[in-house]
Amino acid sequence: MNISDIGLIGLAVMGENLALNFESKGFTVSVYNRLHSGRENRVDRFIRGRGAGKNFIPAYSVEELVSSLKRPRKVMLMVRAGQPVDDMIGEVLPCLQSGDVIIDGGNSDFRDTERRMKFVEKKGVLYVGTGISGGEIGALTGPSVMPGGSSAAWPLVKELLQSVAARLDDGTPCCQWIGPGGAGHYVKMVHNGIEYGDMQLIAESYYILKESWQLNNDEIADVFEAWDRGELNSYLIGITAEICRKKDTDGKYLLDKIVDVAGQKGTGKQTATAALEEGDPLTLITEAVHARFLSSIPEERKRAAEYYCPEAAVLDRVRIGSADLLCHALYASKLISYAQGFSLLRRASEHYGWSLDYGMLAKIWRKGCIIRSVFLEQITRAYDALSGLENLLFDDFFRSRILEALPAWRHVVAECLTNGIPIPCMASALTYFDGLRILYSSANLIQAQRDYFGAHTYERIDAPRGQFFHTDWNDTGGIASGVYNA
Ligand code: 6PG
Repeated sequence: MNISDIGLIGLAVMGENLALNFESKGFTVSVYNRLHSGRENRVDRFIRGRGAGKNFIPAYSVEELVSSLKRPRKVMLMVRAGQPVDDMIGEVLPCLQSGDVIIDGGNSDFRDTERRMKFVEKKGVLYVGTGISGGEIGALTGPSVMPGGSSAAWPLVKELLQSVAARLDDGTPCCQWIGPGGAGHYVKMVHNGIEYGDMQLIAESYYILKESWQLNNDEIADVFEAWDRGELNSYLIGITAEICRKKDTDGKYLLDKIVDVAGQKGTGKQTATAALEEGDPLTLITEAVHARFLSSIPEERKRAAEYYCPEAAVLDRVRIGSADLLCHALYASKLISYAQGFSLLRRASEHYGWSLDYGMLAKIWRKGCIIRSVFLEQITRAYDALSGLENLLFDDFFRSRILEALPAWRHVVAECLTNGIPIPCMASALTYFDGLRILYSSANLIQAQRDYFGAHTYERIDAPRGQFFHTDWNDTGGIASGVYNA
């Protein structure tokens, strides 16, 4: 047959919407979903349902799907990350020929993508691991797409992927080649980590407005809406206002009925782990992951609340800050989160030799994805001004914004700590900032301690860096680790 432009495997929410998006852009799409015995075939359901009357070719086996494709064939996997991707590659690969392309559009671990790329390239097949952000609606109407993998695949998939992606006002598609190997999935992973940070910061602001200001949900929505009209304008702030206003069927706020236990599929944890591996201080995103872990032990929290309620409760119901002060604290914390996220990307890019274009990344996140915001424009501008920028905090604009926000940020964090309001991300952002900004840290003592108990040596301020010294700290010829006796 050889008539379809792309074959899409996996008709779950993202796959189905993406298939419809491809078709709406004029492509003929072959669709296949694994058969599940006893259940109605998803392919039939789709073809009779949302796909009815459109340019879809149903396939009931991988062979059938592959034989319906124009060459070089492009097969896109929209299956659950992990083993299902390997299983599907195992089925698809023998049906493909040299020069064909497999595209994995799930949230795969970047290391898996690197491994899979090497594996399929050995058979002459090209591999693209692409991040796709925007959720269900984004997949249908225009997500942000972050492809990486076999560089030779980009000219073959560029038109397809760019045509389904969101577009900036100047027409630039929010889909550009990210880099070789696992670069696309790494960038998507960091996008998700930043998403965790943004969500947690917004949740902390919500909590202050609720617990300290004692606002009702409509009043909280008013504050978020006001922020959404300014420099915090973003998809996540916008939906938060909507969420706050939403009423259940009984007319009561739906948000108040939702159990305060946060789920996670794992990309935030992966980002935090990747940062540990790179030795990069990604404190805010990591704290956001821990905040979700902490939320997910409700029984322990209940017990702690019983044990410590009087001590840990809000001391007096002071109204912490003002909308303006909170806005500054949120903005400054968000800036720290992005500075850390881009710092991790920089380290990974150097480590893996990806040559990431940071300004371009901020640009393709401007539309379509979950973290889309006006703020990202400033990041692109910062990297356009200086592509080798070491840390976003060193950009003149961001520096002036931090200095402007600093008193408010300190005030909000201090007041929350004093009054027992947990704000893990806002506080960790400020701690990171202070840790970065001080000229002399306390690490001289850490080095002395290490040398004392383990003869790990230290460098001196009055000797060149790289020259190491050891001291017999208690004039006993040194004490070995583990034998110290106070
Ligand atoms: C996106 C989202 C998407 C998804 C996450 C949610 O960019 O469209 O990030 O990938 O919503 O998987 O992740 P958690 O379940 O870990 O919150």
